[in-house]
Amino acid sequence: HDAVDVIRAKRDGGAVPEDALRWMVDAYTRGYVADSQMAAFAMAVLLNGMTRDEIRVMTDAMIASGERMSFAGLGKPTVDKHSTGGVGDKITLPLAPLVAAFGVAVPQLSGRGLGHTGGTLDKLESIPGWRAALSNEEMFAQLREVGAVICAAGSGLAPADKKLYALRDVTGTVEAIPLIASSIMSKKIAEGTDSLVLDVKFGSGAFMRDVDRARELARTMVALGTDSGVATTALLTDMNTPLGLAIGNANEVRESVEVLEGGGPADVVELTVALAREMLTLAGRPDADVEAALRDGRAMDCWRAMIRAQDGDPDAALPEPRETHTVTAPAAGFVTRVEALPFGIAAWRLGAGRARAEDSVLHAAGIDLHAKPGDRVEAGQPLFTLLGQDEARFARALEAVEGAWEIGPEAPAADPLVLERIT
Ligand code: URA
Repeated sequence: HDAVDVIRAKRDGGAVPEDALRWMVDAYTRGYVADSQMAAFAMAVLLNGMTRDEIRVMTDAMIASGERMSFAGLGKPTVDKHSTGGVGDKITLPLAPLVAAFGVAVPQLSGRGLGHTGGTLDKLESIPGWRAALSNEEMFAQLREVGAVICAAGSGLAPADKKLYALRDVTGTVEAIPLIASSIMSKKIAEGTDSLVLDVKFGSGAFMRDVDRARELARTMVALGTDSGVATTALLTDMNTPLGLAIGNANEVRESVEVLEGGGPADVVELTVALAREMLTLAGRPDADVEAALRDGRAMDCWRAMIRAQDGDPDAALPEPRETHTVTAPAAGFVTRVEALPFGIAAWRLGAGRARAEDSVLHAAGIDLHAKPGDRVEAGQPLFTLLGQDEARFARALEAVEGAWEIGPEAPAADPLVLERIT
């Protein structure tokens, strides 16, 4: 095979034969196909798309580049959740222990944040002592004993994707549905979960701003999972507004604990419950009363066990910001808009996120919202508080949210958080 032939075929709008596509992915992973060639191929895919068959082969080739895990010996069903990423999306934190409280194993391999979307591991690392890196044996033991584990994905899973994703990141080729779908699903299928629920976001704070493109991505991923024997469903959910009131790391852990105590913001509870129902249905427990498990402490017990099993102290104080800056309502009215992307960028500029993969995050940094769209506020009432280490960053964060929130005379129409279920 020849990389130039593969690039030309895709450039001219044709389909790449199965053996050529498998070769391309394998040769790229081994370093025989150059970054420049793979980048040209990725751009051709972004512009001309891929057939269902090509996407399946691409996914398969990326799975074949690394190890495949199996939880077959666990003796209980496994179910995982993946979100395409958003602002204030801490749902994995309350969700994993909530689902595990019903005797289902939840192997939640997670990542760190890059850019304006936060990373689940960064959030949990706010908890003193908590450890993200587990060996496969430790993970297996925790799944058996506690049921829920949230840990770093090992480097052995789909190494082809790791290399390709980094290349796409710097060549303007992230936003291709065939590449996103094969990237996400190769990791999830290689992980070996029995079933998977996808939270596919649309809106200003999401990868896919447009709901039709988000739906196409969801359908593509559901088909890929199902064809590989992983029972897969997806929810299309709104990411125009940040989820909950906390955007950051330590504050998102705090909010997750509120949900596990039976409280927390309505939207976080709604999405946690919807995803838990979806996961438990796939795991054969469609009648599980998930709201009861939030109210009566079962989910909280599982959270505490999960944090302890990874050397974290669930009772330890979380890091506090050194400086804060509160913005208040200039006039009375209703909050009509709190735009996810600018608030995500502001939290990132405050230090909650990282610009380069090797940077560290400030766990206490972020933003606490005090009002969400639909809330009535009086003049002078706090709208949101910036949390940071040094005031110098506040000006850049304030610049990011300039024009990103609005107060009007009337309450806005409430958009549904969960728009559609895709099976
Ligand atoms: N997340 C991934 O893992 N891969 C993509 O391509 C996009 C988002």
